[in-house]
Amino acid sequence: MTNDLDQLRDELLASIDVASDLAALETVRVGALGKKGTISQRMQGLGSLPPSDRKTFGQHLNLVKSSIAEAINAKRILLESAQLDAKLSDESIDVSLPVRPTELGRLHPITQTIDEAVAILGEMGFVVAEGPEIEDDFHNFTALNIPPEHPARQMHDTFYLPEKEDGSRPVLRTHTSPVQIRTLEAVKPPLRVIAPGRTYRCDSDMTHTPMFHQIEGLVIDKETHFGHLKGCLLNFLAAFFEVEELPLRFRPSFFPFTEPSAEADIGCSRDGGEIQIGGGEDWLEILGCGMVHNNVLSACGIDPDEYQGFAFGLGVERMAMLKYGIPDLRTFFDADLRWLKHHGFMPLETPSLVRGLS
Ligand code: DAH
Repeated sequence: MTNDLDQLRDELLASIDVASDLAALETVRVGALGKKGTISQRMQGLGSLPPSDRKTFGQHLNLVKSSIAEAINAKRILLESAQLDAKLSDESIDVSLPVRPTELGRLHPITQTIDEAVAILGEMGFVVAEGPEIEDDFHNFTALNIPPEHPARQMHDTFYLPEKEDGSRPVLRTHTSPVQIRTLEAVKPPLRVIAPGRTYRCDSDMTHTPMFHQIEGLVIDKETHFGHLKGCLLNFLAAFFEVEELPLRFRPSFFPFTEPSAEADIGCSRDGGEIQIGGGEDWLEILGCGMVHNNVLSACGIDPDEYQGFAFGLGVERMAMLKYGIPDLRTFFDADLRWLKHHGFMPLETPSLVRGLS
């Protein structure tokens, strides 16, 4: 009987050995260890043996059973890893292939430009702030040191909304600067924010549209000075226009909410009628900026003897036109799908300083 068991074990081990896939191995397993398997049946037969044989036979049978189970498990691991290898070599995937460009839509160059500016300034520690497009007179003008009757109000070509019951007239914000006020009212300095968004002026010609976009920047701290403003703008503009060295010059200017105020120009060349940002003989006006006026800080309950800071305002359309060679402002708002297809950007390619802006 014992010989019979050894023979059975050898036969089973041999069929485990030749099983060439998991299904064949499973057939062997069921044939041996399944309910009606050869080993299971012998287990059931134990009871009918004389007690003297039962013990030795039983022990032997158990050894055979566990050696078969072990051999099956070992073989299964082998077959599974062979199966995985085959699948992997079959299904090779080139992870460096670009995503298939199936999207039909494109991001508008304005969206792209704002995303790029936010990516750069975000790296520089700025957080995005927002404010309403329908503003009150206080935030759009008075708190920005533009009191009623101030001549700067005329320059803003303001869209006024119908008078409210209290006699006040809301306006469509004429710039993103009111977000400076809303931020200063809500956040305790030190702070560093940017506010991208829509702005409105009642003006429409070759170079003006009634709705346009600005990005406002505001930094308030205890020892902020004009050198910080210059360094900040230089870093930002060089990163945005993707040039190593960017000539930057400041011209004295006037804004009611900054003192001193300046307009900044970047160096460019216009060889062959095409504008190249970077070196060259020419200058392009790119933004307004300055040190935040004491009156603005005071209007927001901040002590100008303790805190100072700087602010800047960028025109998004102008930045987009310069960077992406779009010659006509009004095409931004034509909603022409062919134009958008040409000048638009792939939706999933989020700008980042590490992976590239555009
Ligand atoms: N708000 C100004 C405008 O729309 C732009 C501007 C100039 C914003 C200077 C600023 C600044 O923050 O410091 O014309």
